[in-house]
Amino acid sequence: MSQTGQRLEHVQLNVKDMGKALDFYQNVMGLVEIARENNVVYLGCGYDENFDLAIMEGGTGIQHFAMRMDTEEELEHYYHKLSTNGVKTEWHNGTEPGQEKGLRFHLPSGIAMELALVKDNRYLNPSRPAYRSNGLRPLNIDHINIMCNNVKRDTKFLQNILDYKISDIVEPEEGFWAFSFTRAKDYHHDIAFVVTKDEANTLHHIAWSMANFEHIKVACDILAQSGYKLEFGPGRHPIGPNLYAYFQEPGGNRFELIAEQSVLPAAAPTKIWTSMKDTLEEWSDVTPPASFLKGS
Ligand SMILES: [Fe+2]
Ligand SMILES: [Fe+2]
Repeated sequence: MSQTGQRLEHVQLNVKDMGKALDFYQNVMGLVEIARENNVVYLGCGYDENFDLAIMEGGTGIQHFAMRMDTEEELEHYYHKLSTNGVKTEWHNGTEPGQEKGLRFHLPSGIAMELALVKDNRYLNPSRPAYRSNGLRPLNIDHINIMCNNVKRDTKFLQNILDYKISDIVEPEEGFWAFSFTRAKDYHHDIAFVVTKDEANTLHHIAWSMANFEHIKVACDILAQSGYKLEFGPGRHPIGPNLYAYFQEPGGNRFELIAEQSVLPAAAPTKIWTSMKDTLEEWSDVTPPASFLKGS
């Protein structure tokens, strides 16, 4: 959780090699192990008692991701709304550490999403972390960027059924959405989508909240000391308009380090961008490497 209306609670990720992943997550990222059950390791940033990332060995990509609900009533409301719209749901109550209730279903593209109520549901206090660690130490999991073959369909599902707001879309041809950025409350994007034809690889990246650009700089130094080079950045995205730096973790999944993402008023209209090249980088004309277009 964070001090804003940011709502991504956790992601369960597949990794190629559990040993290598754990070494990286604990010693470089500075995540802490919260629990280990049924071959899944639950890791947290440590500023609260919730896990942020669950990992399981086998391949790459998302197993499911979860958005935090504030109250039991909110969760019940969306359970009924999903049901009346014909979306098949499944309760997973208490099946993850710190998670009291979880409602799972699939986005139209097939990606598994969860609405979750968690025990530790207030705010982060960096002076009283639940766990202490070293490494680059993100404050929190921040947002998820999903790849799917129909961005408009998944975005409209979030808007119509779960009441998400659409902060920005990139529409290079009328009716064709290449990217979309959606918010559950006021944080510019909790769930973003990128179009792809590659249905096997549905994760573009998971982002981690950093305090500021200085924190990102220290993190980049720690990554370099540990043998990890950035894939793209650092820079500032025109949409957000957050600071960013991307790299790939040893399991083959892409992570973003992010700071300065905006908070929007509820009534802020959707901004529509038509030129793809205007949407990637403010500070220079650099273009991302070809690898950046691929998911995991
Ligand atoms: Fe979950
Ligand atoms: Fe991002």
